[in-house]
Amino acid sequence: MTSFTKLADNETPVIAVHPTRRVSKINPNIYAGFTEHMGRCIYGGIYDPGNPLSDENGFRKDVVNALKDLNIPVVRYPGGNFCATYHWLDGVGPKDQRPSRPELAWLGTETNHFGTDEFMKWCEVVGTEPYLCFNFGTGTLDEALAWVEYCNGTGNTYYANLRRKNGRQEPYNVKYWALGNEVWGPWQVEQTTKEAYAHKALQWAKALKLLDPSLVLILCGQDGTASWDYYTLKQCLVPAHSPLSTSAVPLIDMHSIHLYTSSDQHLPNATAPLAAERAIEITSSLIDLARIENKVPPSQPRPTICFDEWNVWDPIRAEGSLGAEESYTLSDALAVAIWLNVFIRKSRDVGMACIAQSVNVISPLMTTPEGIIKQTTWWPLYLFSRFMRGWTVSAHVSCGAYEGETAPVWLRSAMETPWLDVSASMGEDGYANLVVVNIHEERGFETKVEGVTGSVEVYTVTGEGVQVTNMKGKEEVSIQESKWNGEGTYEFPKHSMTLMRWKAE
Ligand code: AHR
Repeated sequence: MTSFTKLADNETPVIAVHPTRRVSKINPNIYAGFTEHMGRCIYGGIYDPGNPLSDENGFRKDVVNALKDLNIPVVRYPGGNFCATYHWLDGVGPKDQRPSRPELAWLGTETNHFGTDEFMKWCEVVGTEPYLCFNFGTGTLDEALAWVEYCNGTGNTYYANLRRKNGRQEPYNVKYWALGNEVWGPWQVEQTTKEAYAHKALQWAKALKLLDPSLVLILCGQDGTASWDYYTLKQCLVPAHSPLSTSAVPLIDMHSIHLYTSSDQHLPNATAPLAAERAIEITSSLIDLARIENKVPPSQPRPTICFDEWNVWDPIRAEGSLGAEESYTLSDALAVAIWLNVFIRKSRDVGMACIAQSVNVISPLMTTPEGIIKQTTWWPLYLFSRFMRGWTVSAHVSCGAYEGETAPVWLRSAMETPWLDVSASMGEDGYANLVVVNIHEERGFETKVEGVTGSVEVYTVTGEGVQVTNMKGKEEVSIQESKWNGEGTYEFPKHSMTLMRWKAE
């Protein structure tokens, strides 16, 4: 939680951090990833058989090592829009017998050379947990149940035996499953209404939990501010009941929302992720409202938000069917830093957040046949994932604010947009961490930082100007490390992200 007092631009900003005032636990799953059969994410991204940089599984080792550095706890797969026509059975068994299919989300051809078993193996190599999304377009409930049985079945049953026949004895124990993806969108094969979706989601959830009550089921929401979100939550967050067994389990465990932000103007671009903060607040209220109206007992765990697609993306600039390869600028890196500040500030409500996506497609990490490139947006993600864990702690910022146009337009009347965007955390290692994103293009801010004790490690992400990128053969944006003695004021440089940490316990 960070509170804000607006000052005049000529007043000295003050940031007060309270490392002992723990607000809420940060779920490590806010650093989750996403790999979709789209563009060069899977083929040529994580899977590149025959490339000298790949291992015996065909997995790019440089990509694996880079993602290990991000310590990603969960990765969502196989889409995205791709899910709406994906039949998982096409992607298991001997590769030479797998069918090639026309792919309708991004209008390519899917060879199915990479499927469920390859993804599970890749997760093991990266040291992460799988999160799978069901086909709510052309798929059936039978097919979904069969997929869960294939992944998690332990008995002498058909699909569990098929997994064994395909070389995997032990179940994969996949916990996270999404009940469809963006099924409200006109681009979606089998787009549906909120009424039809809510009915189907609840019926699927019932059957899926009968098969495996340990599943975490994720409802398909919109952007958190839509009547779709209100309606589906109202219909689906119901008291746990058990028509066929003695133990009642809740049917829905999380609510998914998606948002991509962008603007070709720096300040609207950098401040746009604050729309996600308001969306999280609204969704959180809708969750409470549904539970109140449906008389859900407090003993039933309150669903959290699964922000399973977030990032900076302009789909006109980087079109989906052309692979959505964004060339990120420093401005985008500051936007990503504010996105992550939002997830830290809202840690009470956010149970998972998946950056869309993990490799090549609107990604901080790019591959070439010869190696990898870390985009500008890699560096805030890396610093947050490394240090912003443990507890969100209370902070207060007093400073001036940007008062111009926002993207989306509604943000201007819903949130304030301070020059210094702040979040703070307290790690299990006894270190307090403070992130300050100075979005101002021309001004550094000499700032009083209260609550600091002793010597401070400082990590700064910045570059020559807000339009520089790492995609033109030179790493223009990376991390500079320094120290501060914690005394007097500290100048947060123009257009920068700063992470400070100090021993607080
Ligand atoms: O992440 C790219 C695409 O954006 C996903 O496939 C879809 O869910 C969203 O519209």
